[in-house]
Amino acid sequence: MNEGPPALAISGLTKRYGRVEAVRELTIAAKPGEIYAFLGPNGAGKTTTLRCVAGLLLPDAGEIRVCGFKVSPDAIPFREVLAYVQDRPYLYEKLTAWEYLEFLASARNLKGWREGAESILGLFNLMDWRNALVEGFSHGMRQKLALAGALLHKPKLLMVDEPMVGLDPRSSRDARELFKTLAASGACLFLSTHSLDMAQAVADRIGILHKGKLIAEGSFSELQEMSQRPGSSLEEVFIELTEETAVAVEAANGEGG
Ligand SMILES: Nc1ncnc2c1ncn2[C@@H]1O[C@H](COP(=O)(O)OP(=O)(O)OP(=O)(O)O)[C@@H](O)[C@H]1O
Ligand SMILES: [Mg+2]
Repeated sequence: MNEGPPALAISGLTKRYGRVEAVRELTIAAKPGEIYAFLGPNGAGKTTTLRCVAGLLLPDAGEIRVCGFKVSPDAIPFREVLAYVQDRPYLYEKLTAWEYLEFLASARNLKGWREGAESILGLFNLMDWRNALVEGFSHGMRQKLALAGALLHKPKLLMVDEPMVGLDPRSSRDARELFKTLAASGACLFLSTHSLDMAQAVADRIGILHKGKLIAEGSFSELQEMSQRPGSSLEEVFIELTEETAVAVEAANGEGG
């Protein structure tokens, strides 16, 4: 059986900002239909990784492919199958919500997108706001509009940076369900998040990034095993794994000099 290429394949990614090595030799693959939660403490390198995948940052080393298409700043094919919702999405303040979606649809030359867009706006209770200017939107409303815009072209890989920040409880539950539905229809979701509840609830696989390196990867139960604490929550596992590594890194540095 031919499985086809992974939805996301990051191999040996390294990205530096001056002397800061934000991401170090990172290798991750995720399949169509999979929900991958990308966790890590503040400054671990999650957003940097996502920006490299989106072609917004040029890696110092490594290769990234989206559905088999190579990511590079001037390449087009990977952009046709990718959607990226940034943690602080940039929206056009002087457009209405609907005009914003129309703008995206025309930029991507889409046909037949309106019904899908209406159903997402409906899901997020934004239908009454469709003709209101974005400048009057709250943070959570902006997040939801950005997500609606990201789905217009039916991406095969949806990357979201901090999907739950700013969403009210009802909207975050709806977003979870939406992610599951998208995955069930064959899309791959790569979610960078601090919301461990969400990761535990929806992720097929979880990767933990710490100081630019992937220190653990697997299903929730596999991570529980790694932390050698049966029955522990993802929060406990996360704290234990990231602290253990911190201690190990300090010890290694101490020994080295
Ligand atoms: N534009 C930049 N210039 C210089 N350093 C940067 C830049 N962006 C990020 N960094 C550094 O790279 C490292 C990784 O940052 P990044 O934003 O990728 O982390 P993150 O895992 O997304 O963190 P958070 O959970 O806080 O969003 C940090 O040390 C950060 O200070
Ligand atoms: Mg970030």
